[in-house]
Amino acid sequence: MKSIAAVYNQYGKPTEVVRAQTLDVPDPGDGQVLIKFLRAVINPSDLGMIGGSYGTLKTLPAVAGREGVGEVVAAGKGSCLKVGDCVRLSAEAGAWQQYQVAEASKLTVVPRGIDLDMAAMAFVNPPTALCVLDLFEKLNPGDWFIQNGSNSALGLFLIQMCHARGIKTLNMVRNAEAKRSMLEKYGADEVVDEAQFDAKKVKELTGGKLKMGLNQIGGESVSNMIKAMGKSATIVTVGAMVSTPVRFPTRFLIFNDLRLRGFWWDDWRRTHTKEESDAVYAKVFGMIADGTLKAPVDSRFKLQDISKALERACQNSRNGKVVLEF
Ligand SMILES: NC(=O)c1ccc[n+]([C@@H]2O[C@H](COP(=O)([O-])OP(=O)(O)OC[C@H]3O[C@@H](n4cnc5c(N)ncnc54)[C@H](OP(=O)(O)O)[C@@H]3O)[C@@H](O)[C@H]2O)c1
Repeated sequence: MKSIAAVYNQYGKPTEVVRAQTLDVPDPGDGQVLIKFLRAVINPSDLGMIGGSYGTLKTLPAVAGREGVGEVVAAGKGSCLKVGDCVRLSAEAGAWQQYQVAEASKLTVVPRGIDLDMAAMAFVNPPTALCVLDLFEKLNPGDWFIQNGSNSALGLFLIQMCHARGIKTLNMVRNAEAKRSMLEKYGADEVVDEAQFDAKKVKELTGGKLKMGLNQIGGESVSNMIKAMGKSATIVTVGAMVSTPVRFPTRFLIFNDLRLRGFWWDDWRRTHTKEESDAVYAKVFGMIADGTLKAPVDSRFKLQDISKALERACQNSRNGKVVLEF
């Protein structure tokens, strides 16, 4: 059987090194399933992995893509899945391909009735948002949470989770005027332009009790965020959309006991069992099913048009994820 796949043979600029190619697909062996691609999304980590700058890299040549869903269309002997099941595509095999063969026991099943776009983006950003909220600080209703890059998919999931828990969010973005009403629709309490960030005003607004921050971007916005944090607050870094270092006076560590931490969902998954990861996904699916979590789609492309899709994904000021279909 033949399958169209987004393949790269060298690390580099995604729009230059990823090409749609036809690959041979084997029949599923014992315990394996053949999965037909349904939907996938493009994340910054895909771009980093293709570019060679991510924390883990694939052996080349590789099929790109880490997050997406497909339907089981054939099952090998002894497989724990059946034809018709909707599953997360294997990130290791590469999610951006028309058909893939994977070990059934390693796959996560998507519950019936979950919107396909939401299912395709349920496996990276929502679990990261949950872990950021649950693993570092105990936030109570009425507490404040601050983040930069707030209009990202991860930022929107955090806004919605905080809103559901009664936690107030202060959201830094580029070009706040253009993004304010969209963020408020998702439940944002305050939206501030990162270029006009005033730490004194933020301290006043939050009563000096800003307990927790999320850094998705790096650089100047974090240097500013640090100045607004309350005593013994934690800032968790999950991403680096800019390469500028975060500079700040060390007095914040000494006199404010500021805590700077990092989190990587891939590492969390590696150090936990499949049952533990599936329990996190189950919470995410629950929040999608009950309407707590939504996310916008910026644009849709055929998997065959992967170059155009990557071009869009690399542009600034998107309104949501770039989705791949077949
Ligand atoms: N550590 C982990 O386990 C983990 C898990 C998930 C995500 N992440 C990280 O979280 C971040 C968000 O991921 P996502 O999938 O939600 O991203 P996304 O939806 O693609 O959004 C990207 C965001 O980055 C902003 N941005 C890009 N370049 C910027 C710059 N130079 N200055 C300021 N803002 C900039 C964009 O703002 P504009 O709209 O203004 O362009 C947008 O808000 C990424 O860094 C990703 O790697 C980490």
